[in-house]
Amino acid sequence: MLVRSIALSNYRNYKDIQVDFDPHLNILTGGNAQGKTNILEAIFYAATGKSHRSSFDNELLSWGEKFFKVSLRGERRSGEVKIEIYVKGDGKKLLKVNNHYKKKLSDLIGTINVVLFSPEDMMLVKGSPSIRRRFLDIEISQVSPFYCHSLANYNRIISQRNNLLKAIREQRESEGLLDVWDLQLVEYGAYIIKKRDEVLRSIVQLARSIHSKITEGREQLDISYVSSVDMKKVGPGTSLEDLFLKKLRDNRSTEIVKGITMTGPHRDDITIEIGGAGVKSFGSQGQQRTCALSMKLAELEFMKRETGEYPILLLDDVMSELDAERRKYLLEVVNGRIQSFVTTTGVEEVFQPVKHKGRVFEVKKGQIFHVQEG
Ligand SMILES: Nc1ncnc2c1ncn2[C@@H]1O[C@H](COP(=O)(O)OP(=O)(O)OP(=O)(O)O)[C@@H](O)[C@H]1O
Ligand SMILES: [Mg+2]
Repeated sequence: MLVRSIALSNYRNYKDIQVDFDPHLNILTGGNAQGKTNILEAIFYAATGKSHRSSFDNELLSWGEKFFKVSLRGERRSGEVKIEIYVKGDGKKLLKVNNHYKKKLSDLIGTINVVLFSPEDMMLVKGSPSIRRRFLDIEISQVSPFYCHSLANYNRIISQRNNLLKAIREQRESEGLLDVWDLQLVEYGAYIIKKRDEVLRSIVQLARSIHSKITEGREQLDISYVSSVDMKKVGPGTSLEDLFLKKLRDNRSTEIVKGITMTGPHRDDITIEIGGAGVKSFGSQGQQRTCALSMKLAELEFMKRETGEYPILLLDDVMSELDAERRKYLLEVVNGRIQSFVTTTGVEEVFQPVKHKGRVFEVKKGQIFHVQEG
């Protein structure tokens, strides 16, 4: 899978640019706040329909402009692909995949797959559960349009159900209305829990072997999905759906008082352990980074397994976060068969060994210059 080129109009600090990329390695250099991450974000946006650092499209619109456009030309084994996303200031969004208009964002899924690794991903281990849930959601959504669609439905149901809980608390609605919402919540929620658990099991196997390589067999990584619905109780005659529904019923009065839904995949987490001890609480900073790196690299292998092709790897400033050993490992990946885009403020030290293999670009005030061919 390759990104051949992107063209941006009024995207963040880019007025109008078109860039052709190297099929192996693209190094984006430049000082702070020049637009390096914006390029990676635009590739991520074309692939997923969302920004990795903003939930609102209008933040991507160049200040004072009325629309922005992102176009990506790429290649999969099955042939050329083209993605065009046009967004107006009023939020209206037009999506075209391979010259055909598409209605839903989930129609974009699988056109181009990406794995983005940024300094915030170092928070995968020590940050809040929402970061770990997001890790799984982005991963699974890219290989399953149905998951993407179910997640959107689930989030809508949660927000409507929470409004209803508050209305019941204020005696504006009757409690009986919750029954219908509970059934819908369980339908989508149980599917999301099962899918996350299943995918995480595959990722764990891959992450363990990567982790073992990076630590030269010294450490053993364990990762598991921990749901707010007790999955261990699932057995003959007791489904996850039954347990989920029962927990909603048992907690109903508390939920009405609090006005929030307390059970479901939106409250779940992932535990990460080395040798049986939680890395979040007991791991050193180095161990936490190695775990995050192993999990991100496992994402690449997982997508390869699911789609038959390696995704695009976007590395935003992560080299500076890693020590020599881990850098070396990551450079081997960048040096391999995966098309990579890396941003850095200083190309010289870190990327010296590999820069001749790709193209080096200089990014300056929303302009991008091709400065060296590999
Ligand atoms: N909506 C927008 N319209 C115009 N400019 C924007 C918009 N959003 C962000 N910018 C500008 O984009 C620049 C930041 O770009 P980016 O985050 O890509 O920097 P960077 O080169 O990755 O820097 P660093 O090395 O610090 O990470 C800033 O100058 C910011 O003012
Ligand atoms: Mg940046």
